[in-house]
Amino acid sequence: MVTGGAGFIGSHFTKLALTRGYAVTVIDKLTYSGSIKNLIKLKEVNDFEFIEGSILDEILLDKVFKNKQYNAILNFAAETHVDRSIENSSEFLLTNILGVQKLISSSMKLLQENKNFKFIQISTDEVFGSIEDGHFDEKSMYSPNSPYAASKAGGDHLLSSYCKTFDFPGIITNCSNNYGSNQFPEKLVPLLITKALQKKQLPIYGNGKQIRDWLHVDDHCNALMYILEKGISGNQYVIGGDNCIKNIDMALNICSLLDEIKPLKNMKYKKLIKFVKDRPGHDQRYSVNASKIKNELGWSPRVEFLDGLRDTVNWYINNENWWKNILPYNYDGQRLGLKSKD
Ligand code: NAD
Ligand code: DAU
Repeated sequence: MVTGGAGFIGSHFTKLALTRGYAVTVIDKLTYSGSIKNLIKLKEVNDFEFIEGSILDEILLDKVFKNKQYNAILNFAAETHVDRSIENSSEFLLTNILGVQKLISSSMKLLQENKNFKFIQISTDEVFGSIEDGHFDEKSMYSPNSPYAASKAGGDHLLSSYCKTFDFPGIITNCSNNYGSNQFPEKLVPLLITKALQKKQLPIYGNGKQIRDWLHVDDHCNALMYILEKGISGNQYVIGGDNCIKNIDMALNICSLLDEIKPLKNMKYKKLIKFVKDRPGHDQRYSVNASKIKNELGWSPRVEFLDGLRDTVNWYINNENWWKNILPYNYDGQRLGLKSKD
C-alpha cells in the first residue's frame, strides 16, 4: 500500500515497486500536488490499483484493509510545502498527524496479525531543524522550525509511541531534499526551471546562502526499497546524498544547464535571478549523515548530481504539457508563505 502515490516521490516509488514485481495499491486524495497523470502509464498494469481517497477516512481504510492483507504500508501522503504551512497549517496537522494516527489504528486492527507487516513512515530531515556544522543522524534531537516540520515531527512521535506501546512494526525514514521529474512546480528546483522556461524572474529567498542536501528521487526510492526489504521494525533511518548546495548555486547550475540545452538569443538565464524577501523562520542548513542505512542495509546513492539535474531540466523541457496543464488550476507561480492566514 502506497499512500500519496500520485505525488512526486510516491509515484516514483510506485513505479519502482511494480518493476520489482510487487503488487501496489495507491490511496491518494489528489490534492493540488497529486496528479493521476503521474501514474497514467500504470492504468493497464494488472498488479496496480488506484483508490481516490484520504488517509483520514477511517471507513475507507477499514474497507480496504479488510479486502487485502497488505505486507507493507509506505506512507508518503502529506501536505509537503513549507511556505503553504506558513500561510495556513490546518491541513498539515490533519493529514500529517491525524492521518498517521488513522493509518496506524486501522492497520493495527487489520494487518498486524501478518508477521511480515511493516509500516514505513516517509518523514523528512526538517524535523531536526537547522544545523550550523556537522550532520543530522538518527540520534539528532527533533527541533522543527516550520509548521510543516512540526506536523511531520508529530507524525513521527506518534508512530514511535505506537512502536513502544503496542509493538507496532513501524519504521521512520528522514530524507533530505529530493529533486527529479514530476515534482510540483512550487518547490525550488521545478519552480526555477519552469519559471526560467517562461522567462520569468527566478526568486531566491534572502541572500541565497541557505544550504540543502540534495538527493535524486530515484536514490531516495531505492533507499526505501532497501528499507522495505531489509529494514528492521522499530528503527529509524536518515537518508541523504552527501550533496550540500547553497540555493544560489542550485539556481546558477540550473541556469548554466539551460544556457547549454535551450539557449536564449540575447541573454543568459542567470539574468532572471532576483533576491526576494526571506522565508520567515528560514532554516539555514540541512546536512545528513546516512551511514546507518549504508552500513547496515548496503544502500548508497548512485545518481551523480549534475547528471540528475540535467535529466530533470530535460524532463521539464520535454514535458511542458504536464506542468502547463496543472499550473493554471493549482498554482500560478505566486510567492507563498509571507504571512499567516490562520
Ligand atoms: P507531494 O506534495 O508531491 O505529494 C503528496 C501526495 O500526498 C499528493 O499526491 C497528495 O495528493 C497526497 N495527499 C495529501 N493529503 C492526503 C490525504 N489526506 N490522503 C491521501 N493522500 C493525500 O510530496 P512529495 O514531495 O512527494 O513528498 C512525499 C513524502 O515525502 C511526504 O511525506 C514528505 O514529507 C516526504 N519528503 C519529501 C521530501 C522532498 O524533498 N520532496 C524530502 C523528504 C521527505
Ligand atoms: O528537506 C526535506 C524537505 O525538502 C521536504 O520535507 C519538503 O517536503 C520539501 O518541500 C523540501 O523543503 P524545503 O523548504 O527545503 O524546499 P523548498 O523547495 O521549498 O525550498 C528549498 C530552498 O530554496 C529553501 O531554502 C527555500 C529556498 N527557496 C524556495 C523557493 C520555493 C527559494 O529561495 N526560492 C523559492 O522560490
